[in-house]
Amino acid sequence: MINEATDKGSDASDIGFDIQQLLALFYEKFGNTDHPPLAYFAPGRVNLIGDHTDYTGGFVFPCGTDTGSLLLIRRTSDKHYRLASTNFELVMQLNQEQIDQPHNDHWINYPLGVIDQFRQGGFDINGLDCLLSGNVPNGAGLSSSASIEVVTAFAINALFDCNLTLIDLIKMAQAAENEFVGMQCGIMDQFAVAMAQDKHAMLLNCNNLQHRQVPLSLQGNSIVLANTNQRRELNDSAYNQRVAECSRALELIAQHVDVIELGQVRLADLQQHEAIFKDDPVAFARARHVVSENARVNAAVPALEKGDIMAFGKLMNESHESLKTDFAVSSEPLDTLAGIARTQKGVLGSRLTGAGFGGCTVNIVQENLVEEFKSVVGQQYKEQTGLSADFYLINPGAGVRQITL
Ligand code: GLA
Repeated sequence: MINEATDKGSDASDIGFDIQQLLALFYEKFGNTDHPPLAYFAPGRVNLIGDHTDYTGGFVFPCGTDTGSLLLIRRTSDKHYRLASTNFELVMQLNQEQIDQPHNDHWINYPLGVIDQFRQGGFDINGLDCLLSGNVPNGAGLSSSASIEVVTAFAINALFDCNLTLIDLIKMAQAAENEFVGMQCGIMDQFAVAMAQDKHAMLLNCNNLQHRQVPLSLQGNSIVLANTNQRRELNDSAYNQRVAECSRALELIAQHVDVIELGQVRLADLQQHEAIFKDDPVAFARARHVVSENARVNAAVPALEKGDIMAFGKLMNESHESLKTDFAVSSEPLDTLAGIARTQKGVLGSRLTGAGFGGCTVNIVQENLVEEFKSVVGQQYKEQTGLSADFYLINPGAGVRQITL
């Protein structure tokens, strides 16, 4: 069963979609039968602090966005799966035999991976028409993929009366990404887009999935994302390599310290055992990031709750440095953008957010200086890199839900 907070319908215009236009498109692509579609939405996510910790059983602090993925969906009985998106030209029509293999590098792997999870769970998902529309920028590190996975899982659960819990759906969405798409991501993105609450961020312990919603009272400051618009070099393979490096670090340290996950290691224990990493300094650096990042998350959240936004911002800056130096997931455009941001008046903190290798920085900026921030940072960034940044003001929004039509 789904928890009440996410079960309520809400209005599509609140999240920036023209539902009548989408319905017209749905009927144009799939025909008008007796069954109208239902509508569901899942947001994107912005992680405020705690990156590359989730797959080590560590801590993260993400919030949902007020943009995301809208899905119009209906059951069909013809054993075909028709998938279309307003963000891409293609409409795919697949039969039962064509849905259990990934299709190159294609967006349909996200919904197909989810359908595959339901089928593995013994549910007969025997035909669907799906139209997706996303207003989270793709490839910006805001989890448009998790958003598609979670909205698909949530909708199928409702349409086929599967009666799974939201936690089940989150795990299935993550498994879809791990098994079908081939990215060994942790659980943060799927958890955040499912569980987000309006005006809150969540402190999530990825080891046991305990979480706490924390009101985002930023006292006259705003969350501003800056998109490097760097051509994305990432590659799931660089990400998967970091996951493997963390596993190596765990193997070494677990011979000396009683831990099951790298995220449980304390900094003092890691430092005491530095010598065991002498042949693998990369694994040591990766472990130092994970361990210190967990400590930063656990210091940042109470600081925020006490109203000490300055301390929160400082920890964000330190997080970026650690992701750059020890974890090696930053990039020149990200460093340039964060560096320029930090020299501006009214900027409390700036760091890359998400997987890195391009994408966005997240910045805490004094509300009345946001416009100046955008124009000055945008201009200096252009001068230094030749790239044009985009800026988005984030209003932390709620998690996956049905939308009233
Ligand atoms: C990606 C992954 C997440 C997480 C972040 C980095 O967004 O999907 O699981 O590892 O990178 O924090």
